[in-house]
Amino acid sequence: MIAFVTGGTGFVGGHLCERLRAQGWEVRALVRKSSRTETLEACGCRILRAALLSPAVYSRAIAGADVVFHLAGATKALTESEFLRINGSGTEAVMEAARRAHFTGRAVVLSSLAAAGPAHGPHQPRTEADEPRPVSAYGRSKLLGERHARRARRHFPVAILRPGAIYGPREHEIFQIVRGVARTGFALRVGPDVAVQMTHVDDIVAALQSAATTDTALNRSYFITDRQVWRFSQVMGLLGEALGCRVRQVPLPTWAGWVAALGVDAASRLARRPLAPFNGDKMRELTAGDWIAESALFTRDTGWQAVRALPEGLHETVCWYRDNGWLG
Ligand SMILES: NC(=O)c1ccc[n+]([C@@H]2O[C@H](COP(=O)([O-])OP(=O)(O)OC[C@H]3O[C@@H](n4cnc5c(N)ncnc54)[C@H](OP(=O)(O)O)[C@@H]3O)[C@@H](O)[C@H]2O)c1
Repeated sequence: MIAFVTGGTGFVGGHLCERLRAQGWEVRALVRKSSRTETLEACGCRILRAALLSPAVYSRAIAGADVVFHLAGATKALTESEFLRINGSGTEAVMEAARRAHFTGRAVVLSSLAAAGPAHGPHQPRTEADEPRPVSAYGRSKLLGERHARRARRHFPVAILRPGAIYGPREHEIFQIVRGVARTGFALRVGPDVAVQMTHVDDIVAALQSAATTDTALNRSYFITDRQVWRFSQVMGLLGEALGCRVRQVPLPTWAGWVAALGVDAASRLARRPLAPFNGDKMRELTAGDWIAESALFTRDTGWQAVRALPEGLHETVCWYRDNGWLG
């Protein structure tokens, strides 16, 4: 089997490429000129350096592939137009490259729960039947990417997956919370104690593969979440257990969260690059409600279920951060 993968130098994409190579797939990885490719090269991927928005340059590398996995995307950006360019036009470009290559396989596009928006309440997870209502620039850009992906279904089948928060070895954004707690013993909670689902990256990789290899999953959009729902405060409790320390949770009033987020936005504009995962756009998500969704439809169509429980998964992830020197 041959896979064409975008975003292979990222957290999820790196795990996907390693798994595909371990199973004997040929992997053609589209990366930027500036991307670090050591991990991909170590597992024997073929590297193609080209800009995401130049489909004519990489279209030929898609010819003959069985699956296009489109994972490249920005999770933080200075402006909404930057988000729309990378996550919206970037998806359009990959679909266009596949069309030009007369691609006859299937595409799997990694979107996000943020494209759909928060749940209606802690006991009403989002389902595929709900109208999308993104609350952030990131979410709107992922929704635009989905629209481009759906349009490509005229030419080849496309499955769209919408996971919530993903964690695991090499994850670098939730890691900043892990490192803060490990150093200080304190966890700041901005806004309400929201409900979340956290899915281990191994389960996400398994879902990407299920979507790519199951006929019933063609041309559909699915939420991909762990079945277990946690409050943010419970996740911090589990993190304390994994770190072997007592976590003091400090609720921060919403106005104080906004002051901090707008401060980060101003500093990012001065530095001309997004400085932290916590910012005004993230604040809009954190204060919008519960981030939970129902993945029963995907389970029905593919048999996939998340198998990694959060307590063990967090423990293993913290061990990985320690063993690899991320926690100092
Ligand atoms: N992590 C999560 O919790 C989560 C949850 C839901 C959905 N997702 C989606 O999953 C996908 C992968 O996320 P991740 O956590 O693996 O993110 P990540 O670690 O930040 O990786 C992002 C990947 O996209 C590439 N990329 C970013 N901007 C690009 C651009 N302008 N042109 C070309 N490539 C670009 C990066 O390349 P470089 O190495 O060159 O930077 C990297 O390979 C994204 O589409 C994200 O929206 C993630």
